[in-house]
Amino acid sequence: MEEEIASFYGKDHDQLDGYFRKFQELKKKDYAQAKEFFKKFKFGLQRHIVWEEEILFPLFERKTGMKDFGPTFVMREEHRQIGQFLEALHEKVQQQNPESDQEEDLLWNTLKQHNHKEENVLYPEIDQQASVAERKEVFRSMQDLPEERYKTCCQGHAH
Ligand SMILES: [Fe+2]
Ligand SMILES: [Fe+2]
Repeated sequence: MEEEIASFYGKDHDQLDGYFRKFQELKKKDYAQAKEFFKKFKFGLQRHIVWEEEILFPLFERKTGMKDFGPTFVMREEHRQIGQFLEALHEKVQQQNPESDQEEDLLWNTLKQHNHKEENVLYPEIDQQASVAERKEVFRSMQDLPEERYKTCCQGHAH
């Protein structure tokens, strides 16, 4: 099956949103269960960012010659910020502390705006620029990515 970048990556955003919402819904009722959803969200988001930064964005950068400026440069910067907000929330989760509304809002708002730009501008642009073979190569490389590249928690700590 031939899938477009925009639809696949958009669906991955939606799935991650769902995990995050489940965490929020459950955190005051059953923290252990909420934490399972946080883990799915965290590992999934880390995987998504590695996919973008190491596989998808380089394709765009090769095609357009825009690397140190332009949309992927901005998206990479935003990933750093998202990563910081994610770790701030992760600290609360490690303490099993449900008082994390502020951390959640920061992360959610930043992520929403980021995803919106990718879905409306960057992904459609990549679909337009890339050949069918190039898109296939992206999906193949994503499958080959080893789990330990993204399934990491903070150093030395295992859930
Ligand atoms: Fe992104
Ligand atoms: Fe994304």
